[in-house]
Amino acid sequence: MPSLPPAPARHALRGRAITFGANPFLDDPARALVHEPDALILIEDGHITRFGAFDALHDTLPPDTPVTTWHDGIISAGFVDTHVHYPQLPMIAAYGEQLLEWLERYTFPTEARFADADYAAGVARRFLRELLRAGTTSAAVYCTVHPQSVDAFFTESARLNTRMIAGKVLMDRNAPANLRDTPQGGYDASLALIERWHQHGRQLYAVTPRFAATSTEEQLDLAGSLLRQREGLFMQTHLSENLAEVEWISHLFPRRTSYLDVYAHAGLVGPRSVLGHGVHVDEDTFHTCHAAGCALAHCPTSNLFLGSGAFRLFDALDPRRPVRVGLGTDVGAGTSLSQLQTLNEAYKVAQSTGRRLHPAQAFWLATAGGAHALYLDDRIGTIAPGMEADLCVLDPHATPLMAQRAEQCETIEDLLFVLMMLGDDRSVRATYVAGQLVHDRDAPEAAGARGAGHITSFT
Ligand code: GUN
Ligand code: ZN
Repeated sequence: MPSLPPAPARHALRGRAITFGANPFLDDPARALVHEPDALILIEDGHITRFGAFDALHDTLPPDTPVTTWHDGIISAGFVDTHVHYPQLPMIAAYGEQLLEWLERYTFPTEARFADADYAAGVARRFLRELLRAGTTSAAVYCTVHPQSVDAFFTESARLNTRMIAGKVLMDRNAPANLRDTPQGGYDASLALIERWHQHGRQLYAVTPRFAATSTEEQLDLAGSLLRQREGLFMQTHLSENLAEVEWISHLFPRRTSYLDVYAHAGLVGPRSVLGHGVHVDEDTFHTCHAAGCALAHCPTSNLFLGSGAFRLFDALDPRRPVRVGLGTDVGAGTSLSQLQTLNEAYKVAQSTGRRLHPAQAFWLATAGGAHALYLDDRIGTIAPGMEADLCVLDPHATPLMAQRAEQCETIEDLLFVLMMLGDDRSVRATYVAGQLVHDRDAPEAAGARGAGHITSFT
């Protein structure tokens, strides 16, 4: 794909819009949801500068501002995926195993291919294109142990100008020899990647020990020291996903009081630490996560696919000590890159634990909640002046089934529920990154060309 042409410095979108004015797990969900049936969003230099009712704002627009109207669409902040493995895209939907056997049989052989930089570049391009087709504009992404897999990912993300978090996997034991680094080698390679990519435009680096089973204590300690080398670094890893894994970790680290304590002891648990899964954790662990300010990534399609268990979302979010929680697709154990599909399964997992995930809570998790989990809620995740203009346009009539169901909806909450139960990439009409149209479902060739076909008026 050629480089995208620059977005017009100033343009506006008109249509139905949703965003959040509060956390719907702490406040009344219906009140936390902001619904503007006919909104105007002014975008200047990649940022939202005005947002409100079209009637109230349109006379205030600077002259000659092009306005794109999205009829029948719902404009939302772009989705945020807090846990996903780009190198596992080629092996999504691998049959039959639970976590540890699945890693051995499918994941490690697939990840070994990323020693080849050209192969990595091809998968990175496909992965990011798929994310944008799903309406996801930011993600916390695992690469492989190979530094070239990280260069491939950030090169493509920088070209698209997406705000992404990613890092080189650290693994110095319990993995095939061609996927192992060493404590010092992993440290040096990570530091070089941090120098190259962290805060390079919109790119952010995450120190990425895969999980406690594949790193020695020495490697985890060095990962903790890496985190202290630069401001604003992230840390991502896996926590308490599967019972056999939890048992193994307790044998590998007999002196630690819990799985989380293995990471905490190495200085890896704090703000901007993102722990995938947290399915089998107790109240003490939730309490420590709350106190430390780290986040859990809820990955329902993955947990169902691998038979890992049911994440206790409402216990994690208990208002007395709320833990930051985002949604993760966790592809390739997850079965879809769509946050709508992920919400579908999150709803069912909540039902299985006796709880009801309100559509406002669901869409908050996929947008503002994910941004909050990542400490990026001052930049992404909501539609408001000052925010980066990462947006998606949802189509509740994307399929005949959805269209007939949407006809029965009387409220915006009903419509959002239809989207999260029946929607997928087909219901993402368009995606904007920093104000630029990067995906147009019905006119793929228009993406990157400002979607000029949709400009319906000039002020
Ligand atoms: N635990 C350690 N590595 C992985 C991985 O790649 N996927 C999942 N789901 N869990 C893991
Ligand atoms: Zn994972």
